[in-house]
Amino acid sequence: MKLIVKKDYDELSRYVANEIAECIRSNPRTVLCLPTGNTPVGVYRELTRMYKEGDVSFAQCVVFNLDEYYPIDPDDPNSYRSFMKHNLFDHVDLPPESANIPNGQAADPEAECERYEAEIRESGGIDLALLGIGRNGHIGFNEPGRELCLRTHVVTLTQSTLEANHGPFGSIEAMPKRALTMGIGSIMSAKRIIVIASGPSKRQAVEAMLSGKVTTDVPASLLQLHRDVTVVLDELVGVSQCDG
Ligand code: PGA
Repeated sequence: MKLIVKKDYDELSRYVANEIAECIRSNPRTVLCLPTGNTPVGVYRELTRMYKEGDVSFAQCVVFNLDEYYPIDPDDPNSYRSFMKHNLFDHVDLPPESANIPNGQAADPEAECERYEAEIRESGGIDLALLGIGRNGHIGFNEPGRELCLRTHVVTLTQSTLEANHGPFGSIEAMPKRALTMGIGSIMSAKRIIVIASGPSKRQAVEAMLSGKVTTDVPASLLQLHRDVTVVLDELVGVSQCDG
């Protein structure tokens, strides 16, 4: 794993947006995997700025988002579809049909997961996956546990994730308790992976991800088995070396 530490969140965001834009410039048909969460907001802001200044175009790109709550109306302001529209999709030239997110309203969630996985395969596979990391070491909604699923699947959210994410819903009771998420195998199949983390609340998870040990208790630690992963942190995370 390659570790890059930037001075602050803005530098981290600019650096990662540049990496993504360069990837798209060298292959306009880049297939991206993108996350939601607080951490990527700055990257999306920078990509939007670069698009508006004519430095990058998403016209031929395909995006697969990592996950979506279940059940949720895609038009619900708290859906990940709405998040992506608000933070990126509505501001750039990515064709709507190229913006893929699992359908949080699918009648049969298992079938929806199979359909999503097939779409990823048919796209030719993910070229670049951008990932956040949860305080509990999750990636996407692949939560710590005895086993991890390889492919897109339905998950029950852990207490830690419900607590971390309930804010916009007003309460834990009001939020969906399940999600559809790419699996560890879907993510590990990406040709290249960039993981971003900002702030001291991520220190423990980042240390475990870089520790040189692999455990399903820290799903992100499995990324150490991938041969092209860059971890980009800001100084506030407080981690400056990588054992993995
Ligand atoms: P965050 O979420 O960027 O909001 O911290 C990351 C995650 O939980 O994967």
